[in-house]
Amino acid sequence: MLRTAFTELVGCQVPIQQAGMGGVATPELAAAVADAGGLGMVSLVFMPAGEVAAVLDGLAARTAGPVGLNVLMPFLDRDVVAVAASRVRVVEFFYADPDPALISLVHDGGALAAWQVGSLAEARAATEAGCDFIVVQGAEAGGHVRGQVSLLPLLESVLGAVDVPVVAAGGIATARGVAAVLAAGAAGARLGTRFVATPEAGAHPAYVEALLRASAADTVLTTAFSGMWPDAPHRVLRSCIEAAEALPDGVVAQMSFGTTQVPVPRFAVPCPTRDTSGAIEAMALYAGESAGAVTQVMPAADVVRELAEGAERLLRAALPSVLLQGTE
Ligand SMILES: Cc1cc2nc3c(=O)[nH]c(=O)nc-3n(C[C@H](O)[C@H](O)[C@H](O)COP(=O)(O)O)c2cc1C
Repeated sequence: MLRTAFTELVGCQVPIQQAGMGGVATPELAAAVADAGGLGMVSLVFMPAGEVAAVLDGLAARTAGPVGLNVLMPFLDRDVVAVAASRVRVVEFFYADPDPALISLVHDGGALAAWQVGSLAEARAATEAGCDFIVVQGAEAGGHVRGQVSLLPLLESVLGAVDVPVVAAGGIATARGVAAVLAAGAAGARLGTRFVATPEAGAHPAYVEALLRASAADTVLTTAFSGMWPDAPHRVLRSCIEAAEALPDGVVAQMSFGTTQVPVPRFAVPCPTRDTSGAIEAMALYAGESAGAVTQVMPAADVVRELAEGAERLLRAALPSVLLQGTE
């Protein structure tokens, strides 16, 4: 089995982390991934602390596996961090300079703290701030992208510079990708786009359809969808920018937050969820360069199994041939 410093630390069985994804990383998805042996993450953006506590209690009752909460720093609510820290195994942060006070808040509650980073400097800062592990995100990643460097060169520089487990993210969708980052020295692989195409994810079916049709070259790093979150590059399907450009300015869709219907302006940051109505194709359809390898909707547990078993097979097969080549 693939035991790594990450699986030992977190207490999961396989070195796979499902990414936190606003609107997409539902409790159903996190539970399915955790049940299958990976680390399942939930995103509960804009939810008040009391409701977050109830959702996380429900999640704990649903799975015995480790789960975590993802926190987007531009929308930080410290009360949410405090209630999550005593309820989940991991609280992780993204998109701001690592903050030691937040890490302490997580540790005080009893959870592990992690930060998704986009540069070597940020990796060092996250480690110095006290993170238990870090996620290194390459510019191939879907969704918001923190740095400018591709995964492999970033991973190479970070692995030599920090002493906490490093999880690799960005462009990974297959067992080959998982095996590659583990062979390079990462302690785990984090996948976002691949898990969008699972029945447990919260993504709208038309978004999933567009993703299944797309290749890596159909994704683009842009700042187009900046409403509510400016100056933050993100990778989306190019088709959604073209579709939004073809519409007049104004409201393009309606999203449900509980019982409330919220209008979504053109070029706003949310991606379409199952209960969104309107011009779905013109909303932010986040996707990484991993998109080309996402060709069917598959239960999250099957995805985790395929990735972990496949990576293990590939690593076992690669070892003798690498050794053989060395002795020729
Ligand atoms: C639909 C979508 C939404 C995302 N939302 C978040 C988020 O809310 N918080 C976060 O830390 N990362 C978010 N990300 C980025 C992921 O954490 C991760 O870096 C990325 O998915 C890795 O690249 P991949 O999509 O090629 O697997 C999102 C990614 C996608 C595809």
